[in-house]
Amino acid sequence: MDSFVFRNPTKLIFGQEQTSELVNEMSLYGDKVLLVYGGGSIKKNGLYDQVVNQLNQANKEVYELAGVEPNPRLTTVHKGIELCKKEKIDFILAVGGGSVIDATKAIAAGAKYDGDVWDIIIKNTHAKEALPFGTILTLAATGSEMNSGSVITNWETEQKVGWGSPYVFPTFSILDPVNTLSVPKDQTIYGIVDMMSHVLEAYFHHTTNTPLQDRICESILLTVKETAPTLVEDLQNIEARETVLYCGTMALNGITQMGARGDWGSHNIEHAVSAVYDIPHAGGLAIIFPHWLRNSLNERIERHVQLATRVFGVETEGKSDEEVALEGIQKLSEFWTSLGAPNRLVDYNIDASQVKKMAEIAGARGAFGNFKSLESADVEKILTAAL
Ligand code: NZQ
Ligand code: ZN
Repeated sequence: MDSFVFRNPTKLIFGQEQTSELVNEMSLYGDKVLLVYGGGSIKKNGLYDQVVNQLNQANKEVYELAGVEPNPRLTTVHKGIELCKKEKIDFILAVGGGSVIDATKAIAAGAKYDGDVWDIIIKNTHAKEALPFGTILTLAATGSEMNSGSVITNWETEQKVGWGSPYVFPTFSILDPVNTLSVPKDQTIYGIVDMMSHVLEAYFHHTTNTPLQDRICESILLTVKETAPTLVEDLQNIEARETVLYCGTMALNGITQMGARGDWGSHNIEHAVSAVYDIPHAGGLAIIFPHWLRNSLNERIERHVQLATRVFGVETEGKSDEEVALEGIQKLSEFWTSLGAPNRLVDYNIDASQVKKMAEIAGARGAFGNFKSLESADVEKILTAAL
């Protein structure tokens, strides 16, 4: 096990009908609130009215930034920062999925920075402070509701960049499964793939003696695997929504990453794909991850074997480690496609024409991946196999 420091200051308010806690929670913060949301799902399902009523009850002066895109864009972040500076906003409330929360994190940091927030995102400098913000999560997927990471896309430069700062942990996050009942089937499936991918990224590392870490990861994977088919079959199943919501947060709030450094290469490759083709993040992961797994078989094959046997129930008798590992990968891939996830790039009309460019974007900052080190040429092979 590696030495580690763990800190996660986000207050979670979890449970059915807990959205009503917003009014009490908001009484702790300043008067001028910027409400940030996406393309309108919260207006359709009634959450917007519920939130605005509570902000009024709490006597807040409310400003709005609507229209945050999936794969949130720097241009939208700039608009939010301008509003915060002009109106002297005290607190931001993000209501939406990972994209709304990620945009809010960049707005929060940018509002307290004199230069362009892009400097912080591309790590030319660090955030030294940020506006406080809370979230009401509406989609179980990214874990952004309880972590300090954010991913922003700059369309002008075709870059989708992940960044983080200890100043951008949400102050509180309300996780009410009722708010996820309206998530359509495709986004529900993407969320499931994303949270499983986060656990898999954490699972593949070179650190030895991580028995509890392994079991925590496997528990999340098994729970999602057990619950996902029920949920995809019945999107109104509140208990399945509740379980998956909890899994999504636990998959990327730092708990799985204590004492070992996961890989994160598949995420880097996917970010390069969605920087060029604006596809859903986890649609890309469902396609790329199984290929990454096959590509990394020769690194500590025992990790692959453990995953195959403990999570996918692969029998070992009479089989080589490689056969067991490959069967596990096949089962993972089949599980995702059985839910309805894509499994080839062509499912998104992506052909070979931009593979080289995506591979160059993924490898632009040199070799990456803590379990399996990859360069652009390796990415080209992985993407070509995924066409
Ligand atoms: O924009 P609205 O109208 O709200 O609709 C959204 C959007 O179209 C819809 N949606 C969300 N909640 C809904 C709903 N529709 C109906 N009912 C609801 N309750 O779902 C669509 C997708 O939303 P989005 O926020 O983009 O999805 P997700 O949560 O998967 O976030 C994806 C983004 O997060 C980044 C991804 O790269 C991508 O940009 N990630 C962030 C991470 C982090 N901060 O830790 C880690 C992840 O690995 C990931 O990279
Ligand atoms: Zn992800």
